Amino acid sequence: MRRKHPVNEKWSWVIAVCATLSVVEIPTRLVLHYPPGLLLECLDWLITAVYVIDLLLHLRYAGWLPGISLARGQTMPVPYSKWWLIADLLAAIPFRVLPVPAPLQLLRLLKLARVGQTMHYWRQRAVQSANFLRLLFFMYWLMLLTHCAACGWLALRGLPPEFDKTTHYVRAIYYSITTLATVGYGDITPTTSPQMLYAMALMILGAGVYSYVIANVATILANIDPAKVRYREMVEKLSAFMRYRNIPSDLQQRILDYNAYLWEKRLGYDESAAIAGLPPSLRAEVSMFLNREIIEKVPLFKGASEDFIRAVAMEMRPVIFTPGDYIMRAGEPGSEMYFISRGRVEIVSADGKTVYATLGAGDFFGEMALLFHQRRTASARAAEYCDLYMLEKGTFDNILLRFPDFASHLHTVAGKRQDGNTEMIRRAAIAKE
Ligand code: CMP
Repeated sequence: MRRKHPVNEKWSWVIAVCATLSVVEIPTRLVLHYPPGLLLECLDWLITAVYVIDLLLHLRYAGWLPGISLARGQTMPVPYSKWWLIADLLAAIPFRVLPVPAPLQLLRLLKLARVGQTMHYWRQRAVQSANFLRLLFFMYWLMLLTHCAACGWLALRGLPPEFDKTTHYVRAIYYSITTLATVGYGDITPTTSPQMLYAMALMILGAGVYSYVIANVATILANIDPAKVRYREMVEKLSAFMRYRNIPSDLQQRILDYNAYLWEKRLGYDESAAIAGLPPSLRAEVSMFLNREIIEKVPLFKGASEDFIRAVAMEMRPVIFTPGDYIMRAGEPGSEMYFISRGRVEIVSADGKTVYATLGAGDFFGEMALLFHQRRTASARAAEYCDLYMLEKGTFDNILLRFPDFASHLHTVAGKRQDGNTEMIRRAAIAKE
């Protein structure tokens, strides 16, 4: 049975929003001494309530509440360390209304540790956007750091009467950004020893932040879309090779067009390699999902049994042909058949002059050589960019043996095609005479 846990996504969002509001509001109120309005009072009580509920939920899921059983559907207690308990407890105490020194209210910021924990969890889950999230979370922490550094500066400097509260705050933010960025224009300068020590600490922290930014942001940006980076590298290598070997420019263009098409349609990924490491049952499900487009398109698969579709889907391999490519040539031995997912394929005579048929999405070809153990009866040429799915002879023979309905349908279609071609050749010969 699955373990229930209070740290689900929505609840984590609630905690993250509350912690962010606290870290913005509490230090600002402590240094600017503005009178607490009704809205802020309500907000503070709301955050207290949320933190108390969060604490109780954790205690309950950890099985620490005497007389209260674990949550419904939960079989094992969820570990809850005493450090987390202390942090959650201190953050939940409403120090603002207690007769204690005001800075104790800052203990509410301990809840930020939960935000860090949640961010870590989100990054692990959202593997695809982990780099983007890393950048986003870094910006978040940097903004909070700037704000707290500005509040700390105000606490040390006090509030001389020449400015109003907003100007004080804006100047403090300006100071904290310039110091953290190690720019330090020198228009706001520390005058007392504690202020100098504070400024030095900020500068050292700033140097750390700066090197983190330099070292990481470029990598993060480059890795936001690793598939695109790989694709660009591959195209650059290919272009260099083609130039070096003096490949004709129209062929170069076709090769580049092919790669661009591949990138556009499939993100340049080798799907079969990506899923090769999965166990067979999962691989079958992924193949069914990936190949659902073709399975839905091919009339032959409509109404076919789940077993049959699974067997075919597992073995079909996507291939792409560019306009004018010959997919097969008349007279060659055949070792595979194709299903068309996108694009048009012309079935033509050996000399390429007579077009027997033009096939589109959902059609198949190349079955005759496999069925009748003969050479290709015609050539197949891509009339435009074609996305095809290929079924190899070994698999094809296996499937024929296992699914006689499929075999007989193919025989019927192939027979008709052969008769049609014979008839067409006969007519053409008569017309020549
Ligand atoms: P095969 O002979 O293996 O290779 C060429 C393929 O072209 C052939 O199988 C058929 O699948 C296909 N083909 C041949 N003639 C026609 C036709 N008249 N209409 C549609 N497809 C055809």
